[in-house]
This record gives sequence, structure tokens and C-alpha cells, in this order.
Amino acid sequence: MEWLDVIYSPLWIASTALLGLVVRLQRRGRWDPLSCPTQLKGKTAIVTGANSGIGKFIAMDFARRGARVLLACRSVSRGSEAAKEIHAKTGNSDVHVRQVDLSSLDSVRDFAEKIQKEEKALHILVNNAAVSGLPRQITKDGFDASFAANHLGPFLLTNLLIDLMKSSAPARIVTVSSGNHKNGQVDFSHFQGENLTYCMDRVYNHTKLHNIICTNEFARRLQGTGHLKFGVSANSVHPGIVMTGMMRHYALWLRCIFTLIGLFFFKSAEEGAVSAIYCAVSEEAEGITGKYFDSDCSLVLPAPLARDTALAVKDFEICERLTSKL
Ligand SMILES: NC(=O)c1ccc[n+]([C@@H]2O[C@H](COP(=O)([O-])OP(=O)(O)OC[C@H]3O[C@@H](n4cnc5c(N)ncnc54)[C@H](OP(=O)(O)O)[C@@H]3O)[C@@H](O)[C@H]2O)c1
Ligand SMILES: *[C@@H]1O[C@H](CO)[C@@H](O)[C@H](O)[C@H]1NC(C)=O
Ligand SMILES: *[C@@H]1O[C@H](CO)[C@@H](O)[C@H](O)[C@H]1NC(C)=O
Repeated sequence: MEWLDVIYSPLWIASTALLGLVVRLQRRGRWDPLSCPTQLKGKTAIVTGANSGIGKFIAMDFARRGARVLLACRSVSRGSEAAKEIHAKTGNSDVHVRQVDLSSLDSVRDFAEKIQKEEKALHILVNNAAVSGLPRQITKDGFDASFAANHLGPFLLTNLLIDLMKSSAPARIVTVSSGNHKNGQVDFSHFQGENLTYCMDRVYNHTKLHNIICTNEFARRLQGTGHLKFGVSANSVHPGIVMTGMMRHYALWLRCIFTLIGLFFFKSAEEGAVSAIYCAVSEEAEGITGKYFDSDCSLVLPAPLARDTALAVKDFEICERLTSKL
């Protein structure tokens, strides 16, 4: 039999579908946001990249719990569409769009300044926005565009909002990283687009490693701010392999293959939002900081590089210097 016949055979399709169903069913029964009683009335949350994919469902959950939710989006029109949908589905009208392009330091500064001026408090910050598969592009700040959007922008944003979060404590910072960080490497010349190979998700993998490294260093620096239960925590999560627009910069044939496989095996964006929601609102995650959660909400160890404290101190200082105004 030709291999094509095998792939097209009804038996093959049926068994693949069955396997997919089993995988899907196994995912059920884990922590369920709908049975988590946490209410967020009177609390303010920011979710970056909340107009699509995982970010939209994270924002939807916070809105359902009664929070004031700020959708930090690069496009106001795409953000407004999402805000409208969230309002319609949750009945919460305290959902607003704030424009930010995370790949531009000036844009991040303008955004943070506006938040500091307009908001009395900030209890949850979810650094969710990211890109993958971008070709080589250098931003006006002189950074590789993927590093700027996925790491340096969110790093600066967190740094600029941290005082507001401290004064609003208890507060939680959640960074949506990825299991892909395990294949990432640290080379500080990457930030400026040097020594980078632009091959599929290689650059993305590096940025997701830096996400965890710096989130852990934020956690260490925040640990002095009182009993953690009443302080600011900072953790990273892996959402799982999720069907979203994340692959929009990939070749069409790759997207087709992934969509086909994804129909059976990937999580939906709503399922992908669960680990970040767990980290942001669950009672179970209260007081936990500097940790990495897997897509099923369990605590797991990230790659060794992500646990190297000396490296984290260095990474943090370099990011601080690169994103400072001077
Ligand atoms: N999908 C997966 O399998 C998977 C696996 C592991 C981790 N993750 C992580 O999950 C997070 C969410 O991704 P997703 O899968 O939901 O992808 P997505 O649907 O592509 O969403 C990404 C969001 O980030 C926004 N964004 C990108 N660049 C931005 C910039 N420069 N400034 C502001 N916003 C920007 C996008 O806005 P636009 O609509 O304007 O482009 C979009 O709203 C990411 O951190 C990703 O690394 C995803
Ligand atoms: C990025 O990480 C993923 C998942 O860990 C891996 O499959 C992929 O090969 C890595 N990409 C590159 C180019 O190293
Ligand atoms: C990065 O590239 C520069 C030259 O552009 C080189 O001097 C340096 O050693 C490289 N760094 C690494 C870690 O390969």
C-alpha cells in the first residue's frame, strides 16, 4: 500500500480521531477556572496581547470575576473587537483597550505613564503578548524585533508598573512563557540581533528562556517586600500547545500541517489560558513566587539555564541598562 493510501484510509482517520479524543478527555478534570470561586471586584488587571488567542480568554476570565480589565493591544481596532466580545459574554463593561506596541520602548513608556496616571491600583499583570517566526528586523531602539516584543518590552513594562503593583499588594505578575524555552540559549548579543539564526522558532525559543530568567529575578527582588502572601509574586507558565494565530509568520505549508495536526491534538485557546488564569487568581497559587507552572497547572522545574541565579542577576542588569532612558 502506498503511504498516501494509508493516510487517507478511513481506519487511519478514525484511529487518529479516537486518539485525539482520548488526549482531549485526559485534559479534563484538571484545575477548572469555572469552579474557582475567586472574585476580582474592585481589582484591576492588565493583559497584554488580549485581542486574540490565549490572551483574550485570560481577559475574559478576569472580566467574569468582575475585575476592571485593561486590554493592552497593539491595534486599538482589534482590541475593541475583543473588548466588545468580552463585554457581551460576561456582562462586565469595565473592560477597556489601551494601546501599546511592546516592540517599542517609547510606546511601552507612554503606556505605563498613562496607567500610572489613570489607575489607582494594579493587582494583576499578565505578560502574554509575543510573536514567533519573525524574520530579521531591527527596531528603532536597535533591538531584534522578536526580542523587543517578547522580552525587552514586557521587561520594561513590568519594571515601570512594579511600584503601582507594590502599593496595590497582594498582586501577581504572570509571564506566559513556553516549554520551548528548553531549547533557548543565552547570548546577550542576541538582543541587538547579533549571532542569531532566523530559522522557524529558534529566536522565539531564546526569548521564552529570557522570560523565565527575568521573571525569576523579579521574584527574588520582590521577596523583600513583606510577607509574600501580602506582597507581589512573579511566576511563569507554559500554556500548552495551543491552536492560535501564533504561527502566522510561518510558511503556508507549515501552517497547513500544524493546523491539521492541531485539530486533533492541540488545545483550544480557551484551554491554553488555564495555566495563566490559575497562576493569576487561584488560591492554590497564593504565596508562590519565582516558579514555573506547566500547562496542567502543576509546578515543574524549568530548564537549568532558567534556574541559574547568577545568570539571572546578569540578564536582569543588562535588560535594565538596555531599556533605561540614558
Ligand atoms: N500557541 C501556542 O502553542 C503557545 C505555546 C507556548 C506558549 N505560547 C505563548 O502564549 C502567548 C500568547 O500567544 P497566542 O498563542 O495566544 O498567540 P496569538 O494569538 O498570536 O496572540 C499573540 C498576541 O500578542 C500580540 N502582540 C504581538 N506582538 C505585539 C507587540 N509588539 N505589541 C503588542 N502586542 C503584540 C498580538 O497582537 P496582534 O493581534 O496585533 O498581532 C496578539 O494579540 C505568547 O506569549 C506565546 O509565546 C503559545
Ligand atoms: C524550539 O523549541 C521547540 C520545542 O522545544 C523545538 O521543537 C524546536 O526544534 C526549537 N527550534 C529550534 C530552531 O531550535
Ligand atoms: C557574536 O558575534 C560577535 C561578532 O559579531 C563575536 O565577536 C562574538 O564572539 C559572538 N558571540 C558569541 C557568543 O558567539
